[in-house]
Amino acid sequence: MIANLLLAAGNATFWLPEGKSTFAGEVDSLFYFIFWLCVFFFALILGMAVWFLLKYRRKGDEPVSLPSKHHDTTLELVWSGIPLLISLGIFVVGFRTYMDVVTPPENSFEIQANAQKWSWSFTYPNGYIDSELHVPVGRPVKLTMSSQDVLHSFFVPELRTKQDVIPGRYSRVWFNVTEPFEATVFCAEYCGTNHSLMQSPFIAHPQEEFDAWLQKASRWWEGMDPVEAGALLYQKRGCVQCHSVDGGGGIGPTFLGGFGNRRQFADGGTGVMDENYIRESILNPRAKVVAGFDPVMPTFQGRFKEEELSVIIAYLKSLSGK
Ligand code: CUA
Repeated sequence: MIANLLLAAGNATFWLPEGKSTFAGEVDSLFYFIFWLCVFFFALILGMAVWFLLKYRRKGDEPVSLPSKHHDTTLELVWSGIPLLISLGIFVVGFRTYMDVVTPPENSFEIQANAQKWSWSFTYPNGYIDSELHVPVGRPVKLTMSSQDVLHSFFVPELRTKQDVIPGRYSRVWFNVTEPFEATVFCAEYCGTNHSLMQSPFIAHPQEEFDAWLQKASRWWEGMDPVEAGALLYQKRGCVQCHSVDGGGGIGPTFLGGFGNRRQFADGGTGVMDENYIRESILNPRAKVVAGFDPVMPTFQGRFKEEELSVIIAYLKSLSGK
């Protein structure tokens, strides 16, 4: 435990997991420098306070205040000069690291990231969309990120970088992974009920393995029957985060046994859950909100191709044995 606290720069410690991006070393060195500086001054100041308290406490019938020296130019220059130099040093190193962390190299591999309550989706250069973030090792990767609804924040602790994802504008983050590993993409900005569940797998592969993965993943539903493909897509696009398929509760209604039944809407109307209803609810979720649920689902307009909508519908029908 103590050894764990003492290690620094890129290694796993009590405070941070092992750093696995090119700038992890710089970030960690600065972090631990400031950390140990704080520990040093905390101990020094508190130690001296306690020591003076004991040494100069009032004894016997000494007068309340004794004459003392009230000015020492050398001492004042020293205690102002040393902190000034330390602060300037922190600024210079911090500024250099910051510029490195916010400036993606020209040749970065670009992935679009989309955040919404409460899942991530990543669009690769060939148009393939997945809820998992796969990246090549040893090549700068740049994410261009946007949010469908509220403020989210992209965070993979091992990469030592974090960036807000903002509705109505694009933000970006970049990193260059140094070795293959698996981790988790976290949302680091409180975004509502399921904020803590807003996680996606992060997988860094060697370049050839990444290329093979992307090629295979992009054709994932070839040779699958629609229900099977729909079930997979249901996971991949994060539907399952809010809508259970086993009758359990959630942010949205469960899909177990719902197909073909009449539903009561929040505005007082009713309607049958059929193919058109599901399609409308995916593309325009607030049109017919089921009674008892909040209108919190974002639109998926433009994010599902027609054939993807049909396999999702086939899967939802299958849950009701239709
Ligand atoms: Cu998204 Cu917290």
